[in-house]
Amino acid sequence: MASKVTFYDTTMRDGEQTIGVNFSIEEKIEIAKGLDDYGVAAIEAGFPAASHKDFEEVKRIAEVVDNAKVVGLARMVRNDINAVIEATKDAKHPMIHVFIATSPIHREFKLHMTKEEILDKIKADVTFTKQHIQDIVFSPEDATRTEPDFLVASVQTAIDAGATMINIPDTVGYDTPEEYGEVFENLRQNIIGFDTVGWSTHTHNDLGMATANALAGIAHGATEIQGTINGIGERAGNVDMIEAAAAIHVRHENFNVETDIVLAQSKAISDIVARATRMPVAGNKPIMGRNAFAHESGIHQDGYLKNPETYEILKPEMVGATASLPLGKLSGSHAVMSKLNSLGYEVMREDMKAIFPIFKSVAEESDLITDDQLKVIMQVVEEKE
Ligand code: KIV
Ligand code: ZN
Repeated sequence: MASKVTFYDTTMRDGEQTIGVNFSIEEKIEIAKGLDDYGVAAIEAGFPAASHKDFEEVKRIAEVVDNAKVVGLARMVRNDINAVIEATKDAKHPMIHVFIATSPIHREFKLHMTKEEILDKIKADVTFTKQHIQDIVFSPEDATRTEPDFLVASVQTAIDAGATMINIPDTVGYDTPEEYGEVFENLRQNIIGFDTVGWSTHTHNDLGMATANALAGIAHGATEIQGTINGIGERAGNVDMIEAAAAIHVRHENFNVETDIVLAQSKAISDIVARATRMPVAGNKPIMGRNAFAHESGIHQDGYLKNPETYEILKPEMVGATASLPLGKLSGSHAVMSKLNSLGYEVMREDMKAIFPIFKSVAEESDLITDDQLKVIMQVVEEKE
């Protein structure tokens, strides 16, 4: 039987760490509702201790979200933890995400803490948190650059103190998929009570491997993907949940898992986030880029018109997108004829002998051919007849 993989959205927390992004409360509410419709299991709405604005935003989102858990981020600092407890208290499903760095470089230069001090802090703060809130995500920040045995010790301490979900951040997007999968394998072999908690991936895209890494985590026992919409986030961003969800759907035989993601809502939530961030999705971005289902060259257009599956691995309607056959200098006669017929001209293959050379000469001087240009081409052809 297929197991369930859930999605945990951090668009409004890690995603808001994107340079130049600062959501308004109205934008956050619109994003939260869109995410709920998209089917995520948890929405990390902000970092309540960071500012009064963040606190108010998490509080409002906690009041309006119907299905997903509403999460606030906290460092292992009592003030942060108390702020999350207060901000999420009206949520139907409140959750807290506590984190502390565990890697040598963070211990030495950022925290100035020994391994023992970090373990003591995890134990004390998770135990304290558990008295106020049941659902606790624990993250050992920079997990992938942490010594494997210390990572096991940190995670085991958090589980023993009451954490319900363990998140494994590849904070600087450093791991390869093989290495990230190996981190989960090592935890699976060494954690007592591995199956008593959930396990989430948290991958950054510094080397362009965020999606592959998240999927490697799933293949090695993770049960949840933490990510953002459109892959926004600190530096090169986080894993794009839309890409990860689509990959699990298209390559389901590789993963044998089910998700609650409503793929058809992908475009709607992508558009909401693109507007709110003022960051249009790049044209060549997988799944949501405007070129993802566009076929311009003649060979591809001809194949697509005979059977879309020749060049499409996913039906665009499934993710709320539409296919297009833009006409340019590489387009073929079949696609031009099809477009003319859709514009109301009754064009047969035979007619293309006169039309196509004129189309070609115009296309060679243009980027893409517009409907108006096609109409002019048809006028020229008719005048010649
Ligand atoms: O990338 C990271 O390490 C984080 C933590 C706060 C989980 O975003
Ligand atoms: Zn992160």
